[in-house]
Amino acid sequence: MHIHNISQQNSILNTFISEIRDKKIQKDNMRFRRNIERIGEILGYEMSKVLNFNTENIETPLGNCSINLPKNDIVLCSILRAGVPLHNGLLNYFDTAENAFISAYRHHKHDPESFEIIVEYLACPDLENKTLVLADPMLATGQSMVATFEALKPFGTPKEVHLISVIGAQEGVNFVDKHFDDNVHLWIAAVDKTLNDKGYIIPGLGDAGDLAFGEKLQQ
Ligand code: URA
Repeated sequence: MHIHNISQQNSILNTFISEIRDKKIQKDNMRFRRNIERIGEILGYEMSKVLNFNTENIETPLGNCSINLPKNDIVLCSILRAGVPLHNGLLNYFDTAENAFISAYRHHKHDPESFEIIVEYLACPDLENKTLVLADPMLATGQSMVATFEALKPFGTPKEVHLISVIGAQEGVNFVDKHFDDNVHLWIAAVDKTLNDKGYIIPGLGDAGDLAFGEKLQQ
């Protein structure tokens, strides 16, 4: 897998990452969602650099110019619910993308430290020969990314796969690296060292879904 850790190079991206991590600033839900969206825009821009381009001629009011334009048929798929602002950010740049949504959550049976990933809701167009962009803001264990990718298989075989995450744990990055083919790309804004015993990324930012949309009752 090609791993692109974008914050390894200094840019304005670091400002948005610092704000979603900061325990005072992240309490502003609207700012949190907007920052995740902005990070989605930046990751989408970085990803666009490896898409396929065709040269086209554009007529301006004063003449002609040729320009290389991306040609991929993109399907953006996000994991509910924390993936929604990240999805919006990607969609801000890939105007004509098709969209898929999938729900995946951790089900703790008895032991709070172990869980299985339950995939329930799934709405997806045909993926055959398309460019699948699978977005999950928090790449903690990597199990949701792998479980959702498996659930998408009946919808066709994409010709390219890009994974998009905001913050990952090294363990989650290693897990997806093992499970996905060599030609898959991971575009990630930051990689943290570890996970705690509940599977949260440390230092991470907390619960991305709760920060974006408010706390939920535990089931
Ligand atoms: N999901 C989150 O929202 N945060 C984490 O740290 C891990 C998974």
